[in-house]
Amino acid sequence: MRVVFLSPRYPPEMRQFTRGLAEVGAEVLGVGDGHPDHELKRYLHDYLEVPSIMNEDDVIARVHAWLRGRTVDHILANWEPLVILAARMRERFGLPGMSVDTVRGFRDKQLMKERVAAAGLRVPKAHRIHTVKDVWAAIEDIGYPAIIKPISGAGSADTYKVLSNADMEKVLPHMQHVDEAICEEFISGEEYTYDTASIDGVPAYESVTRYYPNALEMRSNEWVSPVMLSVRDLSQPHIHKGITLGRNVLTALGMGDGMTHMEWFLKDDGEVVFGEVACRPGGACVVDQMNYTSDIDLFREWARVATRKQFGAPTARKWNVGIIFKRALGQGRISGIAGLTEFYNRYRPYIVEDTLFRPGTPRRDWKQTLLSDGYLVIRHPEWDDAKRMAFEAATDIQLYAS
Ligand SMILES: Nc1ncnc2c1ncn2[C@@H]1O[C@H](COP(=O)(O)OP(=O)(O)OP(=O)(O)O)[C@@H](O)[C@H]1O
Ligand SMILES: [Mg+2]
Repeated sequence: MRVVFLSPRYPPEMRQFTRGLAEVGAEVLGVGDGHPDHELKRYLHDYLEVPSIMNEDDVIARVHAWLRGRTVDHILANWEPLVILAARMRERFGLPGMSVDTVRGFRDKQLMKERVAAAGLRVPKAHRIHTVKDVWAAIEDIGYPAIIKPISGAGSADTYKVLSNADMEKVLPHMQHVDEAICEEFISGEEYTYDTASIDGVPAYESVTRYYPNALEMRSNEWVSPVMLSVRDLSQPHIHKGITLGRNVLTALGMGDGMTHMEWFLKDDGEVVFGEVACRPGGACVVDQMNYTSDIDLFREWARVATRKQFGAPTARKWNVGIIFKRALGQGRISGIAGLTEFYNRYRPYIVEDTLFRPGTPRRDWKQTLLSDGYLVIRHPEWDDAKRMAFEAATDIQLYAS
């Protein structure tokens, strides 16, 4: 089994997926920019360094020349900006897996909604935007509040909630560098993920996580300590509705083998509404969170799913797992942490990971990565206990920088 895996070095969790591929017996051929370090090399049979992994035509030409004389079974990518490139390469080399057209349904937020809506599922009203004129025409149909964001964005970059025409006038200059945007009906409600490892679009593993607060608010307010809490009990009626929506979305979009990451809303009146979906695993520790939820290794199971159409781990859910991301007050280097000792004294047995930056560490750019200045992971079998601990970590622990 020979597998080309795009960008095994970056983002950091790609190293884990590379390990997973090696552990299920694949010979891994990595393609990316930069050099793999010693540890990563243990899992790579070969590596092609390219000048820019984002330059699709150049990467395809280089890989084509590099592979000459070698047969390959799969070309895979788990990082959002590379999923189309992987599909283009599969088509070019005649390999199995999702086509470019299918993957576009997971990348283009307008096309995605059209395909999901065509299956009779509830999506926010939305219009594709190229010009300012398009914006006003969209608002005519959608009204306020509205969301405007890039058609194939990530990390909530350039995403705005807009309440009025005056608001929109203020936001538009910030959108000028975006080629294509989407204007959507704003859905007010609780926001959840629906994550899977799927074989032929049928989930072999499913998970749901609640965002506190909703992702856009986490990403727009530095003072917030974002919390992601995985839901142990998926049989609760409101959660089950989201799962049913998610399964139908995967069918509507023609999902193949691999992991998916969807976001959905639960409105006050109980209605569930599709948000967006990607045909790759969630970032920002979502895979770690699922691993802690079920005590399994989804990095390896993804590899098994993607290369052998098999899933080999137990799916029972043992824990509600909370991840609490922290952002320091002040700029520069971390100078102190308040409340952490007390938190450990209260909850030590429930803390499973602590990557909070200690004094001396330079702050990370919270706008660039949700990982911010590190995070705590806690878990508890009871939802209310897990939530209380996560919220206490959010409010009672404070990092300082100077
Ligand atoms: N129509 C909507 N109604 C309400 N909130 C929305 C809507 N569209 C986007 N949002 C908010 O903005 C966030 C970012 O939007 P979206 O998920 O589409 O973009 P993204 O940049 O791909 O996200 P990610 O951070 O998952 O990479 C959503 O998670 C949600 O909190
Ligand atoms: Mg999103």
